[in-house]
Amino acid sequence: MIEMEPFFSQMNFDENAMEGYEFHDIRRLEDLIGYYNEADTVITLEKGNPVIYEVYKRDVPKESGELLHCVTMINPGRVGSEYYMTKGHYHQDETCAEIYYGQKGHGRLVMQKGIKSRMVEMFPGTIAYIPAGWGHRTVNVSDSEPFVFFSIWPGHSGYDYERVAEEPFAKVEAE
Ligand code: F6R
Ligand code: MN
Repeated sequence: MIEMEPFFSQMNFDENAMEGYEFHDIRRLEDLIGYYNEADTVITLEKGNPVIYEVYKRDVPKESGELLHCVTMINPGRVGSEYYMTKGHYHQDETCAEIYYGQKGHGRLVMQKGIKSRMVEMFPGTIAYIPAGWGHRTVNVSDSEPFVFFSIWPGHSGYDYERVAEEPFAKVEAE
């Protein structure tokens, strides 16, 4: 077990970023090939390779007892008729739950477990519980504002992105 020192991060609401982060992932449309309709992806990429979302993460040991946490910012925008969204994943360790806390904008949290699917509307202040075993993805349903949320989950969860292809999420199309 690695002995941790107490630490903190500061949310910068003007920049939609968590200050103090060790990792910053930028996901562009090219990183999400296969997630959207193919023709719409090609048409959008002809105009550029937009940033779909960014993740600011702290460096915490990937061990049971520790708590990973991050801030995700999803830009407003669409690929064809589908809003910008995260890749979505299941946790490799199916005993690991997660909490999402809405900070800015309007999003939807889509969850899936076998044939069951659930959706939670996320606003600033919404605290959503993702039970163990449920796949999860977030979607920005605003055409003008970024959607920002905070996540916290067990250190030993791991990610399973492949399973999203086998057990896809319900679609959230623009109205
Ligand atoms: C961690 C978690 C979130 C997401 C983040 C980006 O378990 O659920 O922090 O990792 O919102 O989404 P993905 O990981 O699906 O690219
Ligand atoms: Mn997760």
